[in-house]
Amino acid sequence: MSTFLLQLSDLHLFAEPDGVLREVPTRDSLAEVLEAVRGTGLDFDRVVLTGDFTHDERRETYQAVHGLLEEWLDRCHVLPGNHDERVLLRDVFSDQAGGTDRGICFSRSVGGWRLIGIDTHVPGEVPGRVEPAMLDWLAGELSEHAAEPTILFQHHPPIAVGSAWLDSIGLLDPGPFQELVTGSPQVRAVSCGHVHQECVGTLGGAVVLTVPSTGVQFVPLSATCRVDSIPPGFRVFALETPSDSVAVESVGWSTRVVRLPAVTFPAVDE
Ligand SMILES: [Fe+2]
Ligand SMILES: [Fe+2]
Repeated sequence: MSTFLLQLSDLHLFAEPDGVLREVPTRDSLAEVLEAVRGTGLDFDRVVLTGDFTHDERRETYQAVHGLLEEWLDRCHVLPGNHDERVLLRDVFSDQAGGTDRGICFSRSVGGWRLIGIDTHVPGEVPGRVEPAMLDWLAGELSEHAAEPTILFQHHPPIAVGSAWLDSIGLLDPGPFQELVTGSPQVRAVSCGHVHQECVGTLGGAVVLTVPSTGVQFVPLSATCRVDSIPPGFRVFALETPSDSVAVESVGWSTRVVRLPAVTFPAVDE
């Protein structure tokens, strides 16, 4: 029996329903992605949104996203990106944005796995940071639940993705976070948003993953910002139920990115 997770990221919606970012009408694109999510036929146990909900950081935009996600709200966790406003996100997603004054975060046991979400948002800045209070909280969770296979979710990737312009706006001062993950063998994956593309790397024993945006895509391995014409998408995880006979580092899991079948909206290079 498997536990299924859905990860959505980088929605970049506008208050205006027909708002466009780099020629992509982001609200229509999200609606199409959600239709593709339904099309998988999977009953997702949890849905994690890894930030950049809006491009205008307006209350009505968060409310629009909240409305579009209605059927998943009872199993949804949200995390802020750089294009977010923490107070508004918390206000509108009051049941889905957990945490304390250290930031928006969550730690839940689902199907024998530990899912942890971390806030990397720095108000007014594009790059992210795992603040010391958040890192302390994460260290406590990892220590308390060391026997559970674990997936971390956050907006900013903790390692370089090979695009100079994105790597310059990634996670600032990633050393302490990297050290913590490297010293926590139960962490099987760190799955992030922010880079609007699919990418895979490693950090200690963990796989570092990124997901496409539900709207605009960026060309991988590019020195400068270039918009990709590849369709938007989302990430799915299938997690096997742990058993006493299997070590925490060996519990089975798989993941894949699912993209829309065709380029629905025109995209252009800058
Ligand atoms: Fe984004
Ligand atoms: Fe971002």
